[in-house]
Amino acid sequence: MTIALPSLFSPLQMGALALPNRVVMAPLTRARASVDNVPTALMAIYYAQRADCGLIVSEATAVDPLGMGWYRVPGIWTDAMVEGWRAVTNAVHAAGGRIVLQLWHMGRLVLPDYIGGAQPLGPSAIAATGETFAPPGEGYQGGFLPMKPYVIPREMDTADIARLVEAFGQGAARARDAGFDGVEVHGANGYVIDQFLQSASNRRSDDYGGSLANRTRLLEEVLEAVTSEMPADRVGLRISPTSARKGMGDEDPGALAEGVATIAGRFGLSYVHLIEPIASGFMERPDNPVVERVRKAFPGVTIQNGSFDAASADACITSGQADAVSFGRPYIANPDLVRRMREGLQIAAPDFDYAYVGEARGYTDYPVL
Ligand SMILES: Cc1cc2nc3c(=O)[nH]c(=O)nc-3n(C[C@H](O)[C@H](O)[C@H](O)COP(=O)(O)O)c2cc1C
Repeated sequence: MTIALPSLFSPLQMGALALPNRVVMAPLTRARASVDNVPTALMAIYYAQRADCGLIVSEATAVDPLGMGWYRVPGIWTDAMVEGWRAVTNAVHAAGGRIVLQLWHMGRLVLPDYIGGAQPLGPSAIAATGETFAPPGEGYQGGFLPMKPYVIPREMDTADIARLVEAFGQGAARARDAGFDGVEVHGANGYVIDQFLQSASNRRSDDYGGSLANRTRLLEEVLEAVTSEMPADRVGLRISPTSARKGMGDEDPGALAEGVATIAGRFGLSYVHLIEPIASGFMERPDNPVVERVRKAFPGVTIQNGSFDAASADACITSGQADAVSFGRPYIANPDLVRRMREGLQIAAPDFDYAYVGEARGYTDYPVL
């Protein structure tokens, strides 16, 4: 008797969602929303082009204007945004796909330029390292945006935290209204939840800082708010506990990963989306990968991410390391990535000049083979 091992192209039941294959489109900020952060018709075309993957995770989407710090990224805090997103979910569903919304708050990574000159919010008054895209000035005609360094955030008080938690809950409710199949809480890449989780950015002395139990408290409150609006079997969580980019870092990433995965399990989340390992580019390959600790602590689906190709992704799944693999950069230039990987066809290279800025060029004009 032969036992069919799961492969990249085999179906997967993930919480309430039945995925036809284990190829996940990773969330990709592409900055094609309107200047008012409303999703556009172009975005519906882009996502529908990629609908044959097992699951699309949308680009990061701000739940609160105070957490939005990037030109032309989408939000989900107004009715107009819900309407814009509804056109996207309708297009993806009409093309036979499934899409979840990534709920996002940038915390200390917001430049004051985006929030009327105010000081951004963070767990502690510690600036991120590096710089980011500032909004363009008057008369902007396209092209690269100016860069500015991150600033020292204002330490959030309990009212700020309550507003943030509420915004995530409202984001989940609006995502449901917009027709999404679920949501992914963005707890990765140095954004606000990650800022609370990791010890380098969280130096608080109250109930939200110090011990691991305290640093995970904000996440628990967010998951409570989100799962009261969207059933837990449609909620995922993205984490990057070993990433040290933008001044992040944790005293014990393995313990953090296990603690967070345990919480995800307690809430009955459908998946944990782990960014690790990465051979090049997005983050350094960690010395001590944490995927096994996530796997042991979390009974749901584990999605692994970072510099995979078809062969390494299939090996990751057949070895049982993860249930599914997500692809980020390969999805920029290969709308038909599933077919190309399945049939061993050529994988096109993206033009990064149009990754984070522009219109149709470098966005919806990549051909299918
Ligand atoms: C253009 C671009 C935009 C991205 N935007 C997001 C995002 O909105 N949310 C997120 O969690 N990760 C984002 N990422 C990270 C990717 O989801 C992914 O983790 C990273 O590209 C590594 O996977 P890969 O090696 O398959 O590209 C972005 C990456 C790129 C290249």
